[in-house]
Amino acid sequence: MGAIKYELIKECKQTGARRGRLHTPHGIIETPIFMPVGTQATVKSMTPEELKEIGSQIILSNTYHLYLRPGHELVQKAGGLHQFMNWDKPILTDSGGFQVFSLGELRKIKEEGVTFQSHLDGSKHFLSPEKVMEIQNALGSDIIMCFDECAPYPATYEYTRDSLDRTIRWAKRCKDAHKNTENQALFGIIQGGMYRDLREKSVKEMLEIDFPGYSIGGLSVGEPKHLMYEMLEYTTPLLPKDKPRYLMGVGSPDALLEGVLRGVDMFDCVLQTRIARNGTAMTSGGRVVIRNAKYMEDFTPLDHECDCYVCKNYTRAYLRHLIKAGEILGARLLTYHNLYFSLNLMKNVRLAIEEDRLLDFKEEFFKKYGYC
Ligand code: GUN
Ligand code: ZN
Repeated sequence: MGAIKYELIKECKQTGARRGRLHTPHGIIETPIFMPVGTQATVKSMTPEELKEIGSQIILSNTYHLYLRPGHELVQKAGGLHQFMNWDKPILTDSGGFQVFSLGELRKIKEEGVTFQSHLDGSKHFLSPEKVMEIQNALGSDIIMCFDECAPYPATYEYTRDSLDRTIRWAKRCKDAHKNTENQALFGIIQGGMYRDLREKSVKEMLEIDFPGYSIGGLSVGEPKHLMYEMLEYTTPLLPKDKPRYLMGVGSPDALLEGVLRGVDMFDCVLQTRIARNGTAMTSGGRVVIRNAKYMEDFTPLDHECDCYVCKNYTRAYLRHLIKAGEILGARLLTYHNLYFSLNLMKNVRLAIEEDRLLDFKEEFFKKYGYC
């Protein structure tokens, strides 16, 4: 039967936006969806109760980080990642491909796998498709990723082609090594850089191997936004309608809308939590840098259109004070609001698809938020 089932509920004929439902071993996810990032088995500063309170349906975690610390065997001993971190809803883990390849000088790629040095203590490690499947099987996440190479930008055609060919061979090895198909769904990752024919080849080969879902990788790696949207627009129509599509590492508010319009179902991004910690909020009127002196005596809510706990109870002046004073609560409250903002945006996007007015919604959103 497989671990997951995607149900396409409605498709916007005008835009290609999809409203769906993803059934997983830890519950149902209404799509399109934004997934908060919990790299080290925690969405920084948020308790699982708070994550549920703001409507998180699924979170993302990282193979690379958990393998290095505290180790996947320990997580397995704890009863798996869900139990270890007290999160009983769905979890998606990335394969470590992206993280290992971001290490630059610290890694060496061979056909068998990648040798790299830990960013924590410099110790030497080896990750291969088989090892990455073993780790993700031990973590017990509902949705797991193939080991891939995210080609840098810019990259030559030859480099991107050879990297893609290896990613395809690794995807076959991942599928063969995946032992827990009834409880964990393995997604194939589409690569191919900024080259249309390589993207097309990537889709064709991944469909041949056959996965329960497809991720779109190698985007938002420094290319101009119009190029990312062009690649996306070219890729998504080639993917099967009865499987979920996940755009990896992309999730700024504008990219969420542009991605949904091009048929993407799942997104993740560290932006929301990262900018919160240095004092930046996403609001209906655009980004607010709360450190700014103009908020010193601003006793209004962070976002007057937001009905989250933070906006109902605190002022911009107080949040500015917390961030300026380096108080933990400042980072916590901004994280809470930024995640709420993005989850709420996706809730409104789902409603707009249901009511066939996503283009109107997009226009109205950008008019207030500003195009960034
Ligand atoms: N996160 C963002 N982009 C990528 C990608 O191309 N591959 C993987 N594995 N993770 C990503
Ligand atoms: Zn709020």
